[in-house]
Amino acid sequence: MTNQDLSNATLEAIRTTRSMRRVEPTDIPGETLKAILDAAIRAPSGSNQQTWSFIVVKDPDIKRALQEIYASVAYQYFEAAPKTVSDGSGAEVMTRVRSSARYLADNLHLAPVLIVACISGTRNFTLGASIYPAVQNMMVAARALGVGSTLTTFHISREDDVKQLLNIPADVHTAALIPLGYPTGKWGKARRRPVEEVVYLDEFGAALWASGENA
Ligand SMILES: Cc1cc2nc3c(=O)[nH]c(=O)nc-3n(C[C@H](O)[C@H](O)[C@H](O)COP(=O)(O)O)c2cc1C
Repeated sequence: MTNQDLSNATLEAIRTTRSMRRVEPTDIPGETLKAILDAAIRAPSGSNQQTWSFIVVKDPDIKRALQEIYASVAYQYFEAAPKTVSDGSGAEVMTRVRSSARYLADNLHLAPVLIVACISGTRNFTLGASIYPAVQNMMVAARALGVGSTLTTFHISREDDVKQLLNIPADVHTAALIPLGYPTGKWGKARRRPVEEVVYLDEFGAALWASGENA
């Protein structure tokens, strides 16, 4: 593979890594799963402490129990959350995210694999920075291998129940629950605020690129 091929493939995988909540029940081959988790453990962590661990959940009963916990929190959130976003153009997007998120709450257990990404240490922002890069690595690697994923955190509101179910020690936290599976839909570029809008030069608020310049 040339450097150009590598950059093209890497950038394409990053651009098209987005939540894939609808997945086939088809199992993920062992070597694919291992490659995905090997990508996770290549991530940075504070002082290279690597206090992470990853629980691969495949047992149907355990997956179902996780789904019940997840859905109980998700549905509370759906009741309380605003139905639309305020900028006028976002309402349709919100509806789509919401319907996709509801689908996942109802069907989490049907994904062939659930990964619970764990980290031990004092719970704070920096500790999070030592596990979420691994989660993102995992999701980008999964995308490169044709496997869909979603970063989810609803379960954290009932983390004690999750820890009891999975026999997780007291000092270990569950940072994310990531369903993995071959997507039923198509891959596409993740929709985000334009880069010109969020990148500044030298001071906050001073745009580096004019709108549309780098599109
Ligand atoms: C901190 C965090 C928590 C999230 N928690 C959930 C979750 O519990 N359930 C879910 O369906 N999606 C969850 N998401 C996924 C976001 O909804 C998703 O990244 C966002 O809507 C963009 O969607 P896209 O990647 O499909 O473009 C979470 C994302 C982040 C970064």
